[in-house]
Amino acid sequence: MSEYSISPTGEKFPLPELEDYPREFERLEEVVKNQHAFGREVVLVMGLGFVGAVMAAVIADARDKKGNPTKFVIGMQRPSPRSYWKIPLLNRGISPIQSEDPEVALMIRRCVDENKTLTATFTYDALKLADVVVVDVQCDYLKESLGNVRDGRADMEALEESLEIIGQHINPEALVLIETTVAPGTTEQVAYPIVKKMFRKRGIESDPLLAHSFERVMPGENYVSSIRDFWRVCSGVTEEATHRVVKFLNEVIHTQKFPLTILNRPIESETAKIVENSFRATILAFLDEWSLFAERNGVDLIKVINAIKVRPTHSNLIFPGPGIGGYCLPKDGGLGLWAYRHIHGFEDNIFKITPLAIDINDTRSLHVAQLTRDALRNMSQPIASAEILVLGASYREDVGDTRYSGSELIVRRLTEMGAELRVHDPYVLHWWEFEKQDQYPTVSHGLKRFFRGQEKLKSLRVEQDLERALQGTDAVIFAVRHKHYLNLDPAEVVESAGGPIAVIDCFGILDDEKIRRYFELGCEVKGLGRGHVKRIKDQVRQEREQQIMPPVQIQIAKYK
Ligand SMILES: NC(=O)c1ccc[n+]([C@@H]2O[C@H](COP(=O)([O-])OP(=O)(O)OC[C@H]3O[C@@H](n4cnc5c(N)ncnc54)[C@H](O)[C@@H]3O)[C@@H](O)[C@H]2O)c1
Repeated sequence: MSEYSISPTGEKFPLPELEDYPREFERLEEVVKNQHAFGREVVLVMGLGFVGAVMAAVIADARDKKGNPTKFVIGMQRPSPRSYWKIPLLNRGISPIQSEDPEVALMIRRCVDENKTLTATFTYDALKLADVVVVDVQCDYLKESLGNVRDGRADMEALEESLEIIGQHINPEALVLIETTVAPGTTEQVAYPIVKKMFRKRGIESDPLLAHSFERVMPGENYVSSIRDFWRVCSGVTEEATHRVVKFLNEVIHTQKFPLTILNRPIESETAKIVENSFRATILAFLDEWSLFAERNGVDLIKVINAIKVRPTHSNLIFPGPGIGGYCLPKDGGLGLWAYRHIHGFEDNIFKITPLAIDINDTRSLHVAQLTRDALRNMSQPIASAEILVLGASYREDVGDTRYSGSELIVRRLTEMGAELRVHDPYVLHWWEFEKQDQYPTVSHGLKRFFRGQEKLKSLRVEQDLERALQGTDAVIFAVRHKHYLNLDPAEVVESAGGPIAVIDCFGILDDEKIRRYFELGCEVKGLGRGHVKRIKDQVRQEREQQIMPPVQIQIAKYK
């Protein structure tokens, strides 16, 4: 019986059978012969995920000074039930990833249908045809407890397996460029020995040409640009590998405008990625304690940050929101800690700040559940019987990427506390971390493990209609700064909800006027880092007592 791979839109693709493999290789050989005749280099991109699918298209779209394409790209993806669908989709010219950047879909269609410089395949034999192999498979960091990154490990399985397969198949002259974010030391101490061993088995004595250059891709409207028009760091294991990687990147990335930084050894390039992301995680985590300070002492942290940011030396201070998500910041520092012990063999604990920052970021959103509980309690409503709406499921504003978002933990904790949750997000159609919570983000390693009573969340569906989502809700949590939420009128929100609600602002979305308005409408307001709301509440109450304002009931009635 055939096994299937089902795309996010529900289309079923039978997985390839044994007899499909030689046929597929023949197809590729034929295409590559024609492409070589055009003088094009053949590049195989391994892993058609968020990064690989777009990187493949960027390479396939590269042109020489005369405007002719210089590369032919084979995107390779394992034919697993979870991922195989990406191959037939891409071969129809359809992007396998959802992006807010319209250029992703246009570029993929252009490369597949018009230029015919991009195809996708499932057969590892395709590696034999490549002049360059770009590795974009995942390297995860699996945490075993919530808020303790030290209790975890790098999951190198997919990467090690890919490297073994590469070593078994490639032409020894092919450059292997690892773009995956890895534990520092991986290219030289894990990848090189794996590929070398496979070469020896094949009787090949030459050194594999391995290099590392990490991706700095940012989900959102400028997705393609963040790959193609951005500074790159790179390094090769040997001088020849460095020479080859520099040549390759100069041909596919706009390095004239965004010059390359060439480092001496791959461990330096790998460390650059980890330090870059640990730095970002740290400046975000640092404000968590000041956020609590602000809440308890009548301070609005948003105004404090804006006051400080006018100093050019402090302009990258950023308000942390409800936790720091995305694929990279929660894990990359962990890869560094793990490498120190498990690749380089040190026993001592030199890392203090990096793990602490990740632990703080990983648990910050739990505080949102406390604020929600307290706001509802002030309205004499127990959390266990409350209907709560979370506005925003993704990890940052105006994107649909939900990986490790703060909102996920908010939903999980409040569910555990007995509340009924609903979610609105204009960018997210399916929140797989709930719908398929035993498989996402990785099998058996989802955040579900850390909470009780999570089973029912499988039926959580993301509402697209905001007014419908608001109906009958007791609390609204502004979790993400999507543009759709920035200008909501408090009166309309309360009207849609059918009466006063608890409002929790996690991201400095409400200005003082709106906060005041919510209080005037009989709502309760709390916010991460927003201690000044209490002052506004007292003012509204005082004014009401002095009969400056009409009583709440009359105000509400007006909007019903
Ligand atoms: N997503 C981002 O925003 C981002 C930003 C910067 C860096 N990165 C880094 O880029 C790397 C890739 O990330 P991603 O988001 O694209 O991951 P992803 O999980 O979306 O994609 C990885 C892909 O590799 C495939 N794969 C795994 N093993 C394979 C094999 N043996 N052969 C062929 N395909 C295989 C998987 O099926 C999957 O499609 C990671 O190291 C990540 O840390 C990601």
